[in-house]
Amino acid sequence: MDAAVTGPTSQSTHELEVELVLEAIFRRYHYDFRRYARPSISRRLERAQQHFGCSSLTMLQNKILHDPTAFPVLLNFLTVQVSEMFRDPSFFRALRERVIPHLRTYPSLKVWVAGCAEGEELYSLAILFREEGLEARTIFYATELSPTALDKAQAGIYDIDRLALFTENHQKSGGRSSLSDYYIAGYGSAIFDKTLRARTVFSAHSLVSDAVFSEIHLVLCRNVLIYFERDLQDRAIGLFRDSLVHGGFLGLGSKETLHFSCHREHFADFVPSERIFRKRSTSQACPERTHAAA
Ligand SMILES: C[S@@+](CC[C@H](N)C(=O)[O-])C[C@H]1O[C@@H](n2cnc3c(N)ncnc32)[C@H](O)[C@@H]1O
Repeated sequence: MDAAVTGPTSQSTHELEVELVLEAIFRRYHYDFRRYARPSISRRLERAQQHFGCSSLTMLQNKILHDPTAFPVLLNFLTVQVSEMFRDPSFFRALRERVIPHLRTYPSLKVWVAGCAEGEELYSLAILFREEGLEARTIFYATELSPTALDKAQAGIYDIDRLALFTENHQKSGGRSSLSDYYIAGYGSAIFDKTLRARTVFSAHSLVSDAVFSEIHLVLCRNVLIYFERDLQDRAIGLFRDSLVHGGFLGLGSKETLHFSCHREHFADFVPSERIFRKRSTSQACPERTHAAA
């Protein structure tokens, strides 16, 4: 049909520009934000547009297609790295009191922290596992989409101003030691003990397009699915289901749930108030909305 004859479609120019810029990012840089929740990705694109001084999203698209140095900056606008150590302390308390007793029964353990941001959650888990005497038998996988965040996670250095909150969270989570045992302070930073990450494999991994891990006992993916549309949430939850051993645990963020997922029946509620689920022993493929792993 000839648009010049029939006139514009009902899709707004802004919606069309968002779709086109996400398509351009995918085709040029292979980062796929096309199935992220539109209101939030659209707001973040607008902030990037302002940052680059572009008068429209089409101008922003032009900039990122022609200036490769702009893309890493744009990526920082499109990913949200907000995190804390022992974020939502009651979640970590539930891990300690309810999940750890089950994990103790395994001779070796694998834990996957998906969307680890700048590492706060990984160091929290490493400390918890050390306090509970499980660290030596555990391999941690810390994965993240943003290369900048992953570099910071591997460095384990945080602004000292954040340590008061981290310490309070650690205590509320039932911490058995003092958080200050795990870092040294200097020049405005807290540098975390590198032995905490000695058993961690850090890697770039996208829940949109990458594949599963194997024989995982605990997956934490908190405050990540909230940014995805439903079918993409299902894809990620399918990855967790296929990565977990039977009886393995999945911890989601406080605003996230499995209840509307096509994989729902493969998990049982374990600590419902903390969004901790346990994989059931029977498993079948999700009948719909699966997107094959790359
Ligand atoms: C708000 S942070 C959550 C950090 C931590 N899990 C927590 O709850 O404190 C969300 C993280 O998910 C990452 N992320 C976004 N899309 C992703 C994807 N497709 N695959 C893996 N990580 C992703 C972002 O880069 C960001 O670091």
